[in-house]
Amino acid sequence: MSQLKQKLFEKIEAWRPRTSKLVKEYGDVKISDVTIAQAIGGMRGVKCLTTDISYLDPYEGIRFRGFTIPETLEKLPKVPGAEMPYVEGFFYLLLTGDIPTEIEVEEVHEEFNARKEVPGYVFDMLRALPADAHPMSMFSAAIVAMQKESEFVKRYNEGLNKMDYWDPTYEDTLNLLARLPEIAAFIYRHKYKGGDIIAPDPNLDMGGNFAHMMGIDKPYDDLSRLYFLLHSDHESGNVSAHTGHLVASALSDAYYAISAMINGLAGPLHGLANQEVLRWTQDVFEKMGGKIPTDEEMKKFVWDTLNSGQVVPGFGHAVLRKTDPRYTAQREFCLSHLQDDPLFKYVDILYRVVPPVLEEQGKAKNPWPNVDAQSGVIQWYYGVREYEYYTVLFGIGRALGVCANIVWDRALGYPIERPKSLTTSMLEEIAGIK
Ligand SMILES: CC(C)(COP(=O)(O)OP(=O)(O)OC[C@H]1O[C@@H](n2cnc3c(N)ncnc32)[C@H](O)[C@@H]1OP(=O)(O)O)[C@@H](O)C(=O)NCCC(=O)NCCS
Repeated sequence: MSQLKQKLFEKIEAWRPRTSKLVKEYGDVKISDVTIAQAIGGMRGVKCLTTDISYLDPYEGIRFRGFTIPETLEKLPKVPGAEMPYVEGFFYLLLTGDIPTEIEVEEVHEEFNARKEVPGYVFDMLRALPADAHPMSMFSAAIVAMQKESEFVKRYNEGLNKMDYWDPTYEDTLNLLARLPEIAAFIYRHKYKGGDIIAPDPNLDMGGNFAHMMGIDKPYDDLSRLYFLLHSDHESGNVSAHTGHLVASALSDAYYAISAMINGLAGPLHGLANQEVLRWTQDVFEKMGGKIPTDEEMKKFVWDTLNSGQVVPGFGHAVLRKTDPRYTAQREFCLSHLQDDPLFKYVDILYRVVPPVLEEQGKAKNPWPNVDAQSGVIQWYYGVREYEYYTVLFGIGRALGVCANIVWDRALGYPIERPKSLTTSMLEEIAGIK
């Protein structure tokens, strides 16, 4: 057993009594009431999920295993010569809750290296898809195509003790995570670079190797590390994480669950918002003839969007009530690497202009920028100019968090998910409407 798996096993053994005690001795303790508005309104704010991988505070933003984004970036071992930490070390943190040593990071790197060979049929299938297939549907299809490799299915069919479900789930998630960067880079080079595929370099870390396979020079490697880390997890109620968790709760294996997660991420109100932001910004850029707008001019574009019944992409959030710290981390990257980029200047103006406009309009509960408000602009700057591809990058990151969640879901024996529905008439009756 690898050191990582051994450590995880020990953590799981130590954690299980906490979960069992809560269910057995305190199972009747109430954590929240549900209103009609919540039942109709996307279950916003209903506290009914459990995860220890990350927690989202409305005012503080995300904490990964208790660490804020600045703390995470500071504490994790860094790739030599780089500003950003190893993605491998970050995954170790998500999975175990501990900051790894350099040696432990190296071990995860070796684990991924040993598992990263993508089956040839995945590439054949991707090549056979229509030329105009969306990269997210390609990514999802590639993942589900590998389902036949599932270790969980094999062991389950042989007769697996429930207490051991986490073990083959761990195997599946590591196999999958090891392969995602190569699959994603293949989709990019196949679809947009005439099929000129760049072979992986086993000596590079996950972020470095991804940048290498994309064919983009430094500091795109650091951007990739940052990007994967920032997009990894946002507790478990968001559409992509919740979908992954829900599908896996039926004991569908990690391939089914992560493919479904990708499908949820592909919606314009979720992961696709990053491309919407860039589209919106470039539209303004064109209308301005490339000139930097004044705050007043920008305000008018924002109002025009709102008055035409559309959302301002990159702003607002279902949980957050302040500037998303994932936005702040990317902003800092921009300030040190692309401060003079005209599109970044637009993003900068939007940061000043949009929140007061949304406040004045009075609809959005959170007027502040979210993770998507500038991520597309950075990709554009480094030459990834195919908007529709951006959510694939989000997907690689999100898979890190959802995979860690799925392993723990199985370790703690979370059952199949099944909330209860009511009819509209029942709600009317509860409300006292005749
Ligand atoms: C993220 C988002 C989907 C959250 O949705 P939510 O939890 O329902 O948000 P709210 O409760 O604040 O929505 C209340 C109202 O404000 C509107 N609103 C929220 N964010 C808005 C925005 N950025 N621009 C314009 N209107 C917005 C909603 O559409 C809703 O209007 P309605 O009552 O007419 O349906 C929403 O803010 C949004 O659409 N943002 C733009 C897309 C985006 O950036 N998505 C990425 C999220 S990480």
